[in-house]
Parts: sequence; C-alpha cells; structure tokens
Amino acid sequence: MPVIAVCSGKGGVGKTTVSANLAAALTAFGETVVVDCDFMLPNLHILLAIENPGLSLFDVLRGDASLKDATYRLRMAVGRTLTTLHVIPSLASLSMLKEFEERRFGEVVEELSETYDYVVLDVSAGLSRLSLVSMGNADRAYVVVNPERSSVNSAKRVVTVARELGVEVGGVILNRYRGERSFAELVSEILDSELAGIIRESRDISRSWDAGVPVISYRPRSAVSRDLVNLAMNVAGQKVNIRPFGRVRYLLGW
Ligand SMILES: Nc1ncnc2c1ncn2[C@@H]1O[C@H](COP(=O)(O)OP(=O)(O)OP(=O)(O)O)[C@@H](O)[C@H]1O
Ligand SMILES: [Mg+2]
Repeated sequence: MPVIAVCSGKGGVGKTTVSANLAAALTAFGETVVVDCDFMLPNLHILLAIENPGLSLFDVLRGDASLKDATYRLRMAVGRTLTTLHVIPSLASLSMLKEFEERRFGEVVEELSETYDYVVLDVSAGLSRLSLVSMGNADRAYVVVNPERSSVNSAKRVVTVARELGVEVGGVILNRYRGERSFAELVSEILDSELAGIIRESRDISRSWDAGVPVISYRPRSAVSRDLVNLAMNVAGQKVNIRPFGRVRYLLGW
C-alpha cells in the first residue's frame, strides 16, 4: 500500500505536525504507521509524548529488534471512533548513523508497506543524502510549504528532485495559512503540483503538542482539524475541493 513521504525544502515548516495529524486521520481509512525519518533531529516521539522510547527504527535497521518491538501504539479518538496510530520513533547515535545502510532501510520500508494500509514518512528538511533516501523509498511525496517565497523556492527543488527519483509528487501542502489567497492560488502553479491541502495557522497546534496529542484528536471540531482531515481525505483518494479561503481568524482560536 502507498508509502507517503512528507517533505520540505526549508526546515520548520510543519512536516512533523502534518505527518502526525495526517497519519492519525488516515487511521480512519486503514491501518497506519508514521515513521520518524528525521534521523539527525528526530522529534516525532517528543511531540507525541512517547517518553524515552526504548527501541527505535535504528535498532530495527541494525537487526537488534523486530519492527513490532520498535512500534508504539497510541490509542486516540478520530471522529467518533477510537483508533490506533502506530509510531516508529528514530533515535540514532553518531555511530549508528555511520552504519546506516540504504538497502536495509529500503527493506524495512518494504516490510511496512506490506503490513500497513498507509505508511507515512516524516522526512528531514532539504536534500541531504538521508532525506533523499527516505523520499526515494516512497511511492508518493507531499511537499509542505509556508506562505513565504523562500519556502516555495526551496520546495521547487524538492519537487524537481522527487520527480528525478521517479517519485510521484502527490501535491503541495500550504501550512500556516493566514488568508494569503493570491499566494495559495499561485503556489500550485509555481510548484507545478496539485494543492493537496491548505492548513491554517492556529494556536491549537502548539496547544495540542503541549498535550502530546495530534490536534485532530485534541480539538476535533476546530477549523485547523478540519483542514487536516480534508488533507487526509485527499491523500486517501476521496477528492476534496481545496480552495483558498479568505482571512483566517486564527486569533480567535480557530
Ligand atoms: N498550522 C500551524 N499553525 C501554528 N503553528 C504551527 C502550524 N504548523 C506547525 N506549527 C508550529 O511550527 C513549529 C514547527 O512545526 P514542525 O515541527 O511540525 O515543523 P517541521 O517541518 O517538522 O520542522 P523540522 O524541519 O525542524 O523537522 C512547531 O512549533 C509547530 O507547533
Ligand atoms: Mg520535523
């Protein structure tokens, strides 16, 4: 089943936020695992309040643990149902990183794709070798941008490289949107990719991370949660019309 890479050119644009919420929302459509592929600066487990994970992806890559042992199961409310999000954290020492074998990583991703309906890879920013390895093992890449020129410029490189690697670009995700309507209209044209989602700026995001829970579960009725669920529906193939909306009243807690 599809392996989805969440990528970006610039750092800090919201890949981990999108990955965790997208994966949480996809549990409504099928068994889903989210994998921290930000090997240098992993923090998915921190946002999801998985304290001191004993085993991580690197133990699996070294052959010291099975995938099952390094998978954490988080029960959460998604819509009206209780689902389970599977999470594989990544904690690597420098020596482990030196041992990193691309082929072994590919095998692990392959095994995950045979086990789960959706595999979401939270890829590190930019085009380092490790970012390329993660992206290159995906079937489809989504590129997260913020409404800033520099973010879109670097995203353009990522889109080009993804295509060169033979990875389909599923679309662009405009995050931290505050009503820049003309920007939203342009971004898919500049990146020559579909607009897969527009996620508004919301204080609920940092509040939800303080609570260690994806916002779609923490504040399911908030507007930003609706944006994220719409993105997940698009990724799951249920066409949702993504249109730029006007000024976002995020200051009112939307
Ligand atoms: N839609 C949003 N509204 C408000 N804050 C947001 C939104 N999306 C992300 N943030 C905040 O932006 C910061 C960076 O988000 P996140 O860690 O998801 O980015 P990232 O792309 O994974 O960063 P890195 O490149 O360092 O891995 C976090 O503090 C997060 O709470
Ligand atoms: Mg991140």
